[in-house]
Amino acid sequence: MRSLSVVLAAAGAAFAAAWATAAAAPAGRSAFRSPSSLAAAPYAPWAHHHWVWLSSDQSNQANVTAYVEEYAAHNITVGAVDIDSMWSTGVNNFVVDTTKFPDMKGLVDQMHAKSVRVILWATSMIDTDSPNYAEAAAKGYFVRNGLNESTPDPIKWWHGHGILLDYFNPEATAWWNSQLDLVLDIGVDGFKTDGTDPFIAEYIFPQSPYHEGVVTYRDYADAYYGSFFNYSRERNPEALIMSRPVDSFNLFDGVSAYLEFSPRYAVFSGWVGDQDPTFPGLVDALGNMLHSAWRGYVGFGSDIGGYRSGHGQLGRTGELLLRWAAVGAFCSLMENGGDKEHRPWKFDAPGSTLHVDAYRRLVAAHYELEQYLLTTGAQAFESNVSIMRPIMPMPADPFGIIQPDDYTTFDYMLGPDYFVSPVYKANATNATFTLPPNPAGWFSVFDRTATFPGNRTTVVQAPLGTIPAFGRRGALLPLHVSTPLLGNGDEASAGALTLLVHGPRCDGSAVSAELRAFDGPSALASYVCRPGADGSGATMDVQVSPLGRDVIVIVRDAQASSVEVRDGESTAACLLARGSSHPVFGPAAVPYKPAPAPMPAQRQASEAPSAQGLCASAWSSHPAVGESGLPAASGAASVAEVVVGRVPVDRGAHIRITGVVA
Ligand SMILES: *[C@@H]1O[C@H](CO)[C@@H](O)[C@H](O)[C@H]1NC(C)=O
Ligand SMILES: *[C@@H]1O[C@H](CO)[C@@H](O)[C@H](O)[C@H]1NC(C)=O
Ligand SMILES: *[C@@H]1O[C@H](CO)[C@@H](O)[C@H](O)[C@H]1NC(C)=O
Ligand SMILES: *[C@@H]1O[C@H](CO)[C@@H](O)[C@H](O)[C@H]1NC(C)=O
Ligand SMILES: *[C@@H]1O[C@H](CO)[C@@H](O)[C@H](O)[C@H]1NC(C)=O
Ligand SMILES: *[C@@H]1O[C@H](CO)[C@@H](O)[C@H](O)[C@H]1NC(C)=O
Ligand SMILES: *[C@@H]1O[C@H](CO)[C@@H](O)[C@H](O)[C@H]1NC(C)=O
Ligand SMILES: *[C@@H]1O[C@H](CO)[C@@H](O)[C@H](O)[C@H]1NC(C)=O
Repeated sequence: MRSLSVVLAAAGAAFAAAWATAAAAPAGRSAFRSPSSLAAAPYAPWAHHHWVWLSSDQSNQANVTAYVEEYAAHNITVGAVDIDSMWSTGVNNFVVDTTKFPDMKGLVDQMHAKSVRVILWATSMIDTDSPNYAEAAAKGYFVRNGLNESTPDPIKWWHGHGILLDYFNPEATAWWNSQLDLVLDIGVDGFKTDGTDPFIAEYIFPQSPYHEGVVTYRDYADAYYGSFFNYSRERNPEALIMSRPVDSFNLFDGVSAYLEFSPRYAVFSGWVGDQDPTFPGLVDALGNMLHSAWRGYVGFGSDIGGYRSGHGQLGRTGELLLRWAAVGAFCSLMENGGDKEHRPWKFDAPGSTLHVDAYRRLVAAHYELEQYLLTTGAQAFESNVSIMRPIMPMPADPFGIIQPDDYTTFDYMLGPDYFVSPVYKANATNATFTLPPNPAGWFSVFDRTATFPGNRTTVVQAPLGTIPAFGRRGALLPLHVSTPLLGNGDEASAGALTLLVHGPRCDGSAVSAELRAFDGPSALASYVCRPGADGSGATMDVQVSPLGRDVIVIVRDAQASSVEVRDGESTAACLLARGSSHPVFGPAAVPYKPAPAPMPAQRQASEAPSAQGLCASAWSSHPAVGESGLPAASGAASVAEVVVGRVPVDRGAHIRITGVVA
């Protein structure tokens, strides 16, 4: 393991001096770390939606519209679209280029009507040929190279020559923000704030009349991202920026170093970006994510399939796209975009739907985690840690890891209850990993019939389109189900909150799950399962505080004899549907069977009409099998299951399941 300072010494003294302040001496940042400022901005839920974007050479109104419509036509949900660079008449003047986007407000309105958020690319650079440059230069709104230099030489960057805005000058920032208003006023939801901040290292003595001493990289990055985030949130309480947490930069061939870009409080939906479209590129992204997690950044993802384009017409292989998409699904930001082709259906051979089907299911898996990610994200944010918890402990010198071989594992926990083992090698068929200790073991997200003990080396098949991802048995897991693709319900589950308990823990202890809301108080769900006397089965009490939503409870890998639902006013006795078969996602050759068509389930509400709604109609649309016992015929592809719902939980609900045999 080589330390960053050694590498920097080799990279040249002037360069090293500038970077060393950034990497080794993070002294200048402090304000945002107080607990009160951490609590100031609420965690934003739409970070957990599926984002797509087109690269700059494709961005125009027709393309963006068509792109989102194409995803919808393939039944793939899109939560946000990033309109990448070159959408404005000058670089970072925020005036929409109407030759490309004749009606940006119309586009934003149209996207919002489809529940798609819109973010726009931006940086901290003003190019010399941008219409707002003259005013910035005349008023001295830029970071100087030496305090008395009136106009620094423009910096050459990937979109021309520009100067860095001086965010320490309140007048300059106000001027800048008034330009952001041009797009915030039409409803834009935030910005992809790209990484021009490191260019400050090209100055020998970066300074601002409004900043004491040299402006270090840290000072500048905090001011740039912090200002963008704070102002966008001030104008729109749900706004986000997509910015870098820790990302690597290439020092010289094959050797990279890691840099903290944004301040932590601004990274709800960060991304580690711009990788090669190769398996080493995926490894690079995973390394950056581990670093971001170790450094306490809450939520982030990476450019699925790699940002850069490689050989071939599509710029990447379908295999890479799916392996990367599977990682993306189990990150808090699932984001697909970059150069050349990223649309999954374009990777399918004629007559095949392998890639698009797998991608659709991965997006569905991501959406099922939405409530879970919202809760764990909010909790992580409040305790200054990441949703991603790498299995590999943070090294003593985290900036010292510079080679892929230095990582012992890329496995991680996503919050407390999911374990993920990324597959990052070509032609992989199996995956080997060690699940964390958990007495009740773990269940496979992609094959509910498979459970595994913790604390033991485990080998599983890892067919393309899946990822070894495991949920904690016994936990109470909130799911947002709206498709049958993961075997947790179907379209009839949409709008309700599904509470899944795989392998209930019947030792009398309480298991709970906080249910965060973005703009209101949290609700709480919990269960206690008490062992019964004389082998009569356990009694499981599930309680949900007022939620304003229906709830569906799935108790899996367990049988029961009866269910009673109380919502405070009425009571219903429901006969159970017992046993259910589930899709098992096999190797790519026999992939992606949707859940079997629903068979008639048994339902019998109590006589009182007021109670009928409690054993609600969604019962019949769950893929429940069999009348009075387990679906023996389905063999290994089945798991016993009790499904209750939809139960309206306006006043809170109490669901008692008796005769539980887990
Ligand atoms: C938050 O976590 C980071 C990284 O672990 C640490 O450097 C920082 O001191 C923490 N801040 C607070 C307020 O605990
Ligand atoms: C974007 O639009 C341009 C011009 O309308 C068109 O040539 C190009 O094929 C479009 N690209 C995509 C990806 O739709
Ligand atoms: C999308 O879903 C609809 C409704 O379930 C279905 O009719 C259609 O065939 C699906 N299209 C694709 C491309 O999967
Ligand atoms: C900058 O200019 C001021 C007067 O305009 C002068 O007092 C000061 O010494 C100069 N600083 C440097 C670093 O040249
Ligand atoms: C952004 O707001 C937080 C308080 O919510 C504050 O601590 C931080 O300094 C602000 N950042 C900038 C760059 O103004
Ligand atoms: C993967 O398989 C392909 C086709 O068999 C082969 O060309 C390629 O070299 C293999 N790659 C690796 C890393 O094994
Ligand atoms: C995990 O297994 C090892 C032996 O392989 C054992 O020493 C250790 O105590 C176990 N940890 C837990 C938490 O069960
Ligand atoms: C892959 O795992 C299966 C069991 O799941 C095992 O039978 C097979 O030998 C493994 N293959 C390799 C190459 O490890």
